[in-house]
Amino acid sequence: MYNTEIGIDIDKAVALLNANEVVAIPTETVYGLAGNALKNEAVIKIFEAKKRPFFNPLILHLASVELIEKFAWVDEISLLLAQHFMPGPFTLLLNKKDIVPDLVTAGSAKVAIRIPNHSLTNQLLTQLKFPLAAPSANPFGYVSPVSAKHVQQGLQGKIPYILDGGNCNIGLESTIVEVENDNVILHRAGGLAIEEIEAIISKKIIVATHHSKPQTSGQLKSHYATTTDLLQGNVDELIKKHQGKNIAILSFKKQYDNVETQNQFILSPSENLNEAAQNLFATMRKLDEINYDIILAEVFPNKGLGLAINDRLQRAQASAKE
Ligand code: TXA
Ligand code: MG
Repeated sequence: MYNTEIGIDIDKAVALLNANEVVAIPTETVYGLAGNALKNEAVIKIFEAKKRPFFNPLILHLASVELIEKFAWVDEISLLLAQHFMPGPFTLLLNKKDIVPDLVTAGSAKVAIRIPNHSLTNQLLTQLKFPLAAPSANPFGYVSPVSAKHVQQGLQGKIPYILDGGNCNIGLESTIVEVENDNVILHRAGGLAIEEIEAIISKKIIVATHHSKPQTSGQLKSHYATTTDLLQGNVDELIKKHQGKNIAILSFKKQYDNVETQNQFILSPSENLNEAAQNLFATMRKLDEINYDIILAEVFPNKGLGLAINDRLQRAQASAKE
């Protein structure tokens, strides 16, 4: 057991990481649970704190684009994408070099690489002599944390330190892609809209089909789940179907009749998908703290960050008992 502290002391974070301890770090997407990616002792602590299965690989977080080639082989299109979107909410799957431990990639020949965009964490990364392996800082399967307090709620006593960088301003995990035969394959919709990537490559992204044995936990059907059952669909119809229950509604901006206003949670009054993304996980957590029987969520427009919002709601729904 640790006495989990929260603070903004970068030197303390550096000292802990140098001692193969894990530290929760802020990023613009969600908080990560970081450790020295090159030391198995540290990486094992990440898996243990999260209760994450070892077959699930971790993203390598670096300080700059120039460092990528130390850890992976970079093709031309991947380099172009890295130059455009890093630092940012964007992760590239690349063929790994030997220096990356198999524990980080779960035995895969590919490594996921990302350069976060958060001043505290970027300062931290530049002070370290090694990259950070970091999954989202939540117990496995639960909603990702977008504030230091969320991290504390899930990992209190399991880690020594949480570097507090405030609320994450994107609020959804990074978009994960891989370049294969000059095509860009989407492995996880996330905080970078695919339209932005398509504009750079001048062609459509190919959405990866999910296999029964997932390579990415973002591909596990049931994930990012609230404890309270959540259903996504036509909310008017769902309200009728679940009459008599204590219902919460998660909507873009619409108000519904027949459900008290205080039980309706609007993600963006101005119908802005970026704002909705930013509010999604914090609202899911808030709803989980209230004793609702069921959460009914709208289907968001399937464009921009709406794609990732719908993806997370679908996965939360996959955990519902009905
Ligand atoms: O925004 C983010 O990506 C956050 C912040 C902390 O950087 N990280 C994050 O990590 O969401 P995690 O572990 O919760 O999700 C990363 C996803 C997982 O689904 C994992 O399976 C996949 O990336 N992944 C990591 N390495 C991989 C690899 N070598 N091959 C395939 N998938 C990989
Ligand atoms: Mg995660």
